[in-house]
Amino acid sequence: MNKSLTAIILAAGQGTRMKSQLPKVMHKIAQKSLIDFVINQANKVHAREIITLIAPDADILSDHLTQYNNINTIIQNERLGTAHAVQTAMKASDLSTDISLILYGDTPFIGVGTLNNVIARLKNSDAATCFVGFNAADPTGYGRMIVKGDILNKIVEHKEANELELQQKLCNSGIVAIKNQYIKQLLDKVSNNNQKGEFYLTDIVEIAQNQGLSSSYIIADEQETLGINSREQLAVAEKIWQQNKRRELMNNGVTLIDPESVYLSFDTNIAQDVIIYPNVFFKGNVNIESGTEIKSFSYIEDAIIGKNCDIGPFARIRPNSKIGDKVKIGNFVEIKNTIMHEDSKASHLAYLGDAEIGIGSNIGAGTITCNFDGKKKGKTIIGNGAFIGSNSALVAPLNIGDNATIGAGSVITQDVEEKALAIARPVQKNIPGKSKV
Ligand code: UD1
Ligand code: MG
Repeated sequence: MNKSLTAIILAAGQGTRMKSQLPKVMHKIAQKSLIDFVINQANKVHAREIITLIAPDADILSDHLTQYNNINTIIQNERLGTAHAVQTAMKASDLSTDISLILYGDTPFIGVGTLNNVIARLKNSDAATCFVGFNAADPTGYGRMIVKGDILNKIVEHKEANELELQQKLCNSGIVAIKNQYIKQLLDKVSNNNQKGEFYLTDIVEIAQNQGLSSSYIIADEQETLGINSREQLAVAEKIWQQNKRRELMNNGVTLIDPESVYLSFDTNIAQDVIIYPNVFFKGNVNIESGTEIKSFSYIEDAIIGKNCDIGPFARIRPNSKIGDKVKIGNFVEIKNTIMHEDSKASHLAYLGDAEIGIGSNIGAGTITCNFDGKKKGKTIIGNGAFIGSNSALVAPLNIGDNATIGAGSVITQDVEEKALAIARPVQKNIPGKSKV
């Protein structure tokens, strides 16, 4: 815990350009909300307190934030500007820490290294504030940073900037660390006498100067400062995130045959020597152990997959599935809330839901666990070494013992004891000479 740090996350913006019912910071990259990225960073720099400013109508966001026990969620009733947002936070906290770190809820990629740098730079200097700047490829819309050597003299918002200032490529990311001993005297002086009629946090740079104080800055990579304002920017951010994650996996020894076509979640864990074929999608909470191959067009969600498995093509693995070592799940097999123990196989066209499949058991093509009777779900438990013939309907709740065999095309409604052969289908009758052809 960093006793000296308060993180203030500004997330009260309307996000109009997202054209969404959802508060902007609840939109996701790699299946994780933008706000969660930022909270994660605040926790990583060990903020003692985290204050999040949200809009009055953002119930989904405030509900979401209740999962964290170290967040003080404050409603900013009127959004009068970035300085006003910080002032609203100050009403909710006495800021007894040394430094306030202002973060934006819609800037998810800011690096922990950068945040540690800005905090360290501020701590080790006489400056009252330290801003994070970046060299913008296209500075349009950003506040320009006017610097001299290590000193930040002024930040001028795009709308207020003159010709010369507009040529400046060093822009304000919005992220700033402020010494709390000065924060009140600086913010008290901010006015809204500007083009947008807003209270600009960036005005504290000149205010500090007028009070005989100074400001400093650090420069971060532009990618870290990427802000999300539209669906298009969300897609750009998703792409960047995916590229980074794919690179990280490959560097850790995972083969992605066509990296661009594999989509990962923020919490996807894939071990060394796993091979992922083109066009595979991972939803949340998937762990894959070494030596497994995931073939094309598989969609995998909330599952643990063991070592040396052979999954897909066209496998669908749904939540709460646990796949043991050396399991085979072939094309058009859907698995849900099911344990498949090692060496078991479902090679083609099957639905296994709310089931447990024993070691080395073989599930024939077209096998369906009938797990839902219209009202409630039932379990199907299959022992070790069992053989389920093709096109069997296993009506749950059902127990099939070790080494049992189910004849193809059976509808099984009663438990089958170990080593038994169960056949439940009309007996075939051959009538000589009665063929129509
Ligand atoms: C701000 C900076 C600008 C910087 C840019 C980087 C100011 C005055 N300008 O401009 O120098 O280059 O960010 O993207 O600070 N917010 C609130 N409450 C408010 C106002 C804003 O929570 O009352 C939040 C917004 O949701 C957003 C962030 O603060 O996440 C920034 O506000 P925004 O209005 O987007 O500021 P910019 O004009 O982009
Ligand atoms: Mg903005």
